[in-house]
Amino acid sequence: MSQSKKEGTSHEFDAESHLRSDWAARQHALGNVPQAVLLRNLPPRLNLLIDTWHRSLLRWSLAPLERTRSTWIADLGCGYGRVVNEVKAMGFENIIGLDYEAGFCRQYQLDHGHAVQGSIAQPPFAAGSLSGAYAITAFMYVGLERAIDGIGMLDASLSPGARILILEAGAEFNGLSRYIFRQKRTQSLAVNGFSRSELGKTLLPDGWRKIASGSNAGMTMLLPLLMTFHRWPRVFNALAKAAMHLDRPRVGFRDRGVRSFGLHRWVLCEKPFNSAPAR
Ligand SMILES: C[S@@+](CC[C@H](N)C(=O)[O-])C[C@H]1O[C@@H](n2cnc3c(N)ncnc32)[C@H](O)[C@@H]1O
Repeated sequence: MSQSKKEGTSHEFDAESHLRSDWAARQHALGNVPQAVLLRNLPPRLNLLIDTWHRSLLRWSLAPLERTRSTWIADLGCGYGRVVNEVKAMGFENIIGLDYEAGFCRQYQLDHGHAVQGSIAQPPFAAGSLSGAYAITAFMYVGLERAIDGIGMLDASLSPGARILILEAGAEFNGLSRYIFRQKRTQSLAVNGFSRSELGKTLLPDGWRKIASGSNAGMTMLLPLLMTFHRWPRVFNALAKAAMHLDRPRVGFRDRGVRSFGLHRWVLCEKPFNSAPAR
C-alpha cells in the first residue's frame, strides 16, 4: 500500500472514531427519540413529516419482496430503530439492525430483537443472507471511499433479487446550509451528504439495477412555509400534504435540476436475479 493511501486510511479511521464519539454524546444527550436521529433543530412537527416520508418510501421500496421465514432485511446505521415498526407492519419478521452506537443498539434489541454493534463500512452479514437492506442517512457519515467499500461488502451479503434503498442528505442543500449557518461548519455531525452522481452512480457496485431515485425537493422548497406555520396545524397539514404529493416515489421520475435540490435524496436498486451467488 502506498504511503498516501495509508495516510488517507488512517485519517478516515480517525474521522470515524471522532464521529462515533459524537454519536454516543448525542445519544446520551437526547436519548432514543426522533430528534436524536433526524434534524435536531427542526420543530417536532417537521421531523414527523420527514419520518412519514421515509416510511412511505420504505413501504414502496420493499413492497415487492417475498415475506418468508428466511427473508432477512438489514437496517444499516439503524439508530434506535425509528422505522422498524413500518417494515414489521409490512409482514417482514426478520429485521436486523447494524449501528456502532451502543445505546442505540441496546434500545433496538429491546424493542425489535436483533441488532449488531459494528460499522456499516464493514457490514458483518454472511454471504447471500439478506433479501433486502436499507440505510437512512447513514453512509454519509463514513465518507465516499469507505461507503463504497461498505456497499461493496454489502453486495456479497445480498441474495439475487434483493432490494436496497439508500437515502442520504443532499450535498447541495447541506453546502448551502453550511454557507448560511456558519456554526454548521464546525459541527462534526453536520456532514456533506452525497451529490446526485455519487449516490446514483459512484456508490453503486457494478451490476446493481437502479430501479428509481428521487429526493424530497418539494418538502425542501416548502421548508420556509412549513417552518413558519408549524404551530398552525391546519395550514401545516395542507402544506405537508402538498409536500408528500410532490415527493412521492415514482419509477421514471427524473431527479434533476431543481428537483435534485433536496434535504434528502434516495436511490432504490436491485441485485439482479442472474448475478453469481456470493461465496
Ligand atoms: C442520522 S442517524 C439515522 C438513524 C436511523 N437510520 C434513522 O433514520 O432513524 C445516523 C445513524 O448512523 C449511525 N452511524 C454513523 N456512522 C456509522 C458507522 N460507520 N457504522 C455504523 N453506524 C453508523 C449513527 O450511530 C446513527 O445511529
